[in-house]
Amino acid sequence: MTQPTVPQPAICDYEGSTYRTDFWEGKGREYEDAVERTILRRFLPRHGKRYVDFGAGFGRLIDLAAGFEEIVVMDYSRTMLQEAQARLGRAERFIYVAADLYKLPFAANSFDAALLCRVIHHLADAPAALRQIRHSLAGGSTFVLEFANKLNLKAILRYALRRQAWSPYSREPVEFVRLNFDFHPAYIREALIAAGFRPHRRVASSWLRLALFKKVLPLRAMVALDRLLQPLGAWLPYAPQIFVENRVSGAPTPLVERDQLFRCPITGAPLRREGDLLVSTEGNPRWAIRDGIYDLKEPLT
Ligand SMILES: C[S@@+](CC[C@H](N)C(=O)[O-])C[C@H]1O[C@@H](n2cnc3c(N)ncnc32)[C@H](O)[C@@H]1O
Repeated sequence: MTQPTVPQPAICDYEGSTYRTDFWEGKGREYEDAVERTILRRFLPRHGKRYVDFGAGFGRLIDLAAGFEEIVVMDYSRTMLQEAQARLGRAERFIYVAADLYKLPFAANSFDAALLCRVIHHLADAPAALRQIRHSLAGGSTFVLEFANKLNLKAILRYALRRQAWSPYSREPVEFVRLNFDFHPAYIREALIAAGFRPHRRVASSWLRLALFKKVLPLRAMVALDRLLQPLGAWLPYAPQIFVENRVSGAPTPLVERDQLFRCPITGAPLRREGDLLVSTEGNPRWAIRDGIYDLKEPLT
């Protein structure tokens, strides 16, 4: 089965990026990290067979999947995956995959739980990536999505004071910096439903993301206060960050076995392993497995 050719959207490439040390370590973002974890602990299943973190970066949130038998750490950037591998190790249960969210290399029914956190804001064609993700998930599985919300209090205020040209109320995504998008909650909801997800719980978070609060309030108090405000996300989603817990429509389906996990990102045909290669069962594409990372970004020539 050949996949239709569609123009490839530009990719926010983290190859060689120092994201971990530039953005997280020692950068005063303990509040953001802690809040995300409290939400994900509530939204993600505790146990399961195969979990995937799409756009996992250096694997910051992988510990949340500890109860799963197999954990796929997927990202476009090979260097991010190398960092993840250095942190998490090479145990059999970790499967490191370099791939593109617009051309996912996973068979249908590959996963029973998935996360996309701090990634969709880099996607110029978010609906296309959501469709790819949906294809890889089994019926009845859980998909947790985090997105940056354009309908936040700061943007509403700035728009009202004419300090910002774009409207937080309009549904289309706003690209505030190249390949950095904020989304309207209604746009994301529609895209999720169109892709075959059933949005279930929604919370708004990071209400206190201000230097002043971080200065005067202890971390625990900020996290507790944020937790109290999060349910507002169901009806008044005016915080900068939103999390949606989704179910995949359809009856629960058994997952594919590990040796059937991969499909060719070009043709969609199953891939079979030959030594350190994955070989398409249709046509010629071949893909490398290097130092424990399945490299499904570009085929070998
Ligand atoms: C801001 S980081 C977030 C990393 C991680 N999810 C976290 O929360 O710490 C964004 C990640 O998305 C990845 N990414 C961006 N576009 C992608 C694409 N088209 N396919 C796969 N990964 C992508 C980047 O390589 C980067 O590691």
